Amino acid sequence: MINNFQPIPKNFLSKPIYHRTYLINGELKEWNGKYDEVYSTISCTEVYAPTLIGTIPHLSKTEALEALEAALNAFGKGNGLWATMSVKNRIEIFEKFTEQMKTKREEIVRLMMWEIGKTINESQKEFDRTIEYINNTIDAYKQLDRDSANFQKKDGIYAHIRRGPLGVVLCMGPYNYPLNESFALIIPALLMGNTVIYKPPKYGVLLITPLLEIFKECFPKGVINILFGRGKEIATPILETGRVDILAFIGNSHSAIALQDKHPHKNRLRLILGLEAKNPAIILPDADLNLAISECISGALTFNGQRCTALKIIYLHNDIKKHFLSEFTKKVDNLPFGNPWDANVMLTPLPEPRKPDYIQELIDDATAKGAKILNKNGGKRYNNYIFPAVLAPVTPDMRVYQEEQFGPVVPIRFFSDIEEVRQEIADSQYGQQVSIFGKSIDTLAPLIDTMVNLVCRVNINSLCQRGPDIFPFTGRKDSAVGTLSVYDALRSFSIRTFVAFKDNKSNDEIFENILKTGASHFIRTDYIL
Ligand code: G3H
Repeated sequence: MINNFQPIPKNFLSKPIYHRTYLINGELKEWNGKYDEVYSTISCTEVYAPTLIGTIPHLSKTEALEALEAALNAFGKGNGLWATMSVKNRIEIFEKFTEQMKTKREEIVRLMMWEIGKTINESQKEFDRTIEYINNTIDAYKQLDRDSANFQKKDGIYAHIRRGPLGVVLCMGPYNYPLNESFALIIPALLMGNTVIYKPPKYGVLLITPLLEIFKECFPKGVINILFGRGKEIATPILETGRVDILAFIGNSHSAIALQDKHPHKNRLRLILGLEAKNPAIILPDADLNLAISECISGALTFNGQRCTALKIIYLHNDIKKHFLSEFTKKVDNLPFGNPWDANVMLTPLPEPRKPDYIQELIDDATAKGAKILNKNGGKRYNNYIFPAVLAPVTPDMRVYQEEQFGPVVPIRFFSDIEEVRQEIADSQYGQQVSIFGKSIDTLAPLIDTMVNLVCRVNINSLCQRGPDIFPFTGRKDSAVGTLSVYDALRSFSIRTFVAFKDNKSNDEIFENILKTGASHFIRTDYIL
């Protein structure tokens, strides 16, 4: 076991945060029960030991149901202050929230580095991207509102059509983007007039705590409720009541299925799920190899491969494998490993203590079945890390072929006939994205035409990624339910609802008066600037 101890620079030292409150019904309640300790896998001592960075309330079913009651009351059977509030006022609240959130950047970035080991640059990017996401969502919402500010007429019937909230949303985000992916659910859910219960992930939980006071100050009571504890203990009782309208969850499909199964009226539960993926890179014989190598390294190993969009298997054409692999393995071996605040570091400690053992299991299984570790440093064990192993040739009977590794290991599969690759991707249980590297349009064009029917984003000569966030982000099969993007998320968290009336003198008068007096927040034709 390699000891990678580095003294922690003074400005990045972390004092434990003993967080005591949770947010229900506009009140920060002090918890007097059990607490969970939060550890970072980064060691502060020369002899390796995880660092205690704080404690967090371990809430129970009682508080979970209290939060549900608060969210239901705030929605008020469709008559709550938030659901009926004018679009303008809702936007003003978001603008105030965003301004205050910006003041917490440094604190949140520091916690992100300690809790999940994300590099300082990537942590800052995640924070800034979240602020941008909120601002873009507000703009998209204004546009949605403008587009609906009119009446349509057909067969003598007028219709004023908008999108309305569904009710109560249970949001649960993942540890790899604890801020951004959670907010990519919470923000559109709230903006459309729903009320929310949010449970942060197990890792990346303390970094939410600086925002609790701001949520409390900005939003009307019960509109957003924030709970801490175990998913099973909190989400299960909430769903069992059958009173949640949307489950917005990013994680794995086993948990998603277990959660939705708790709801007694499945037809009433809308699902917005971001699940596992195994995005392949296909390297064709005429690919620009320098470009393919650098994109595959970023694609497979940015944040140690802990991205749902990471390249998790590489299909490499036999004609170019020698050249590709000699460069690729050298470059992987030279990737700098260190703590998240170290300059230019790319590989960082894994936040899940069991992850190095899991990756080791994948490597052992693959090598027992005939694969080799092609790079010198591949599989080197540290106290909180396992250096990325480039594994080849990978075959379908290996676990690393079947499972989403979500960590630092790069499986490589060789091919001669593109048809084999096409079949495998079609048979895979995943369907998020693919990256294709090549130049000949004779090969590319037909491949694109099939791949768009097997995954939901085909990247040509570049890695897979979610951004820019205005593009649709979704997946087929076990990879997602529903579509997220700045614009699509507003649709996912709402439903079309409209007011209709026959065109006659008396009705026309009623609606002219409603418009003139501004008596309704729903029936309006004003243009929001
Ligand atoms: O973990 C899944 C993220 O949505 C991926 O986002 O492609 O921007 O890293 P990214």
